[in-house]
Amino acid sequence: MKKLVIASDHAGFELKQCVIESLSQDGILVEDLGPKSTNSVDYPDYGIKVAQSIINKEVERGIVICGTGIGMSIVVNRFPGVRGTLCGDVYTAKMCREHNDSNLLIMGGRVVGKGLALEIVNTWLATSFEGGRHQRRLDKINQIDSILIEGEK
Ligand code: RB5
Repeated sequence: MKKLVIASDHAGFELKQCVIESLSQDGILVEDLGPKSTNSVDYPDYGIKVAQSIINKEVERGIVICGTGIGMSIVVNRFPGVRGTLCGDVYTAKMCREHNDSNLLIMGGRVVGKGLALEIVNTWLATSFEGGRHQRRLDKINQIDSILIEGEK
């Protein structure tokens, strides 16, 4: 893992700080795209920043956190090439890497406790994509993306 980006809204701020501290202790380079405080902000502004870093290939993977994870899920998955996966348990964190090649981990800061969240992050980071039949399915998703992009022209 070269570098990760991370962002949240106010509801995810505390968990974002906790994740940054843990990753930094593990020697993982993580760029914080904000916010810098718990002042109220709009989650799309921060989800967009992280999704853009991925589609611009500045980083391969990122993490976004809002209150439930739902708002961030809606935002980031509008970007073709972003595979954002909302995880509230370790099994999903593992499977979304193995089967879905998740490149964006989404969590709800008001849903998961810090201990569970760190287990989710560590599992998601440590698990590889299995490829094979799962790649065929991702290829089909990419075809949808192409249809949408073509339709916008
Ligand atoms: C903010 O109050 C909250 O709406 C936001 O963090 C998120 O949960 C939205 O889906």
